[in-house]
Amino acid sequence: MNETRSSLHLVTGSARLAGVIGWPVSHSLSPRLHGYWLQMHRIDGLYMPLSIAPDNFDPVVRSLPKAGFCGFNITVPYKERILPLLDHVDPRAAQLGAVNTVVVREDGSLEGLNTDGFGFAENLSEQVPDWAARGGAAMILGAGGAARAVGLALIDRGVRTIKIANRTPDRAREVAGLLTEAGARVEVLAFPPEDAALEDVSLLVNTTALGMKGSPPLDMPLRGLPETAIVTDIVYNPLETRLLRDATARGLVTVDGIGMLLHQARGGFERWFGRAVPVTRDLRRIVLRGLA
Ligand code: ATR
Repeated sequence: MNETRSSLHLVTGSARLAGVIGWPVSHSLSPRLHGYWLQMHRIDGLYMPLSIAPDNFDPVVRSLPKAGFCGFNITVPYKERILPLLDHVDPRAAQLGAVNTVVVREDGSLEGLNTDGFGFAENLSEQVPDWAARGGAAMILGAGGAARAVGLALIDRGVRTIKIANRTPDRAREVAGLLTEAGARVEVLAFPPEDAALEDVSLLVNTTALGMKGSPPLDMPLRGLPETAIVTDIVYNPLETRLLRDATARGLVTVDGIGMLLHQARGGFERWFGRAVPVTRDLRRIVLRGLA
């Protein structure tokens, strides 16, 4: 076999199978992301986009273990709907009532995990290693599933004071209940928050849809934030949101949203394909090309 041929990475008949279920799924960057790791590490596996209409969701999920899948990711709109189909749910996913990663165990049973919060915190620690040591409060904008995952992950890493600002105050109060139970002091604020509410904030996180392609930008004054504050957005399309641009203009440290996506994928990959994988600059570059 010549050099070119031996460097081809081919899939065999015993390839391990995984994928992402969503509706639609064509926008998902996960096939590109997992496909990169499979190629880089020359793993005999496939990761497929599975666009499944709501009527077909339950039967397809039930059939995947029978078709030899070792697991799959779950994306919009199915992260909650998957729960009754699972045999085991890890404590974090149960607490969040949402699953993004499913592992098919040896006996064919389905185990659900939620790695979104882990992805958020790992990325933040990679980008700003001393973030947790800065003290102060964290402010979360939004009160959906992402706000819950981010809030619990922050508490795991030692954050004790969390402010939640949301357009619908009742939803913010629900999230506040969850985070208080997990051990944080939580304050609910109007959205957008007033300047004075930002004065003790060391970390500002946008978990709302504002700023995402197709949604209005998140336009809020940042002048109340201390100079040492970190501003992060979980929106990654576009990568530089209005919020991040405004924060950079004010001289604040910013963390964009793509790293959360990359890090949340690590846990599933390791369970399905048996290999721990790193998040590298090259991976980031290649995944970002998928946004173009
Ligand atoms: P996810 O599960 O991804 O977090 P979600 O549950 O739909 O998504 O939550 C979206 C968040 O974006 C919510 O906090 C929502 O505010 P409401 O709770 O008031 O609906 C917020 N959001 C969406 N559009 C918004 C807008 N135009 N202005 C302010 N907040 C908005």
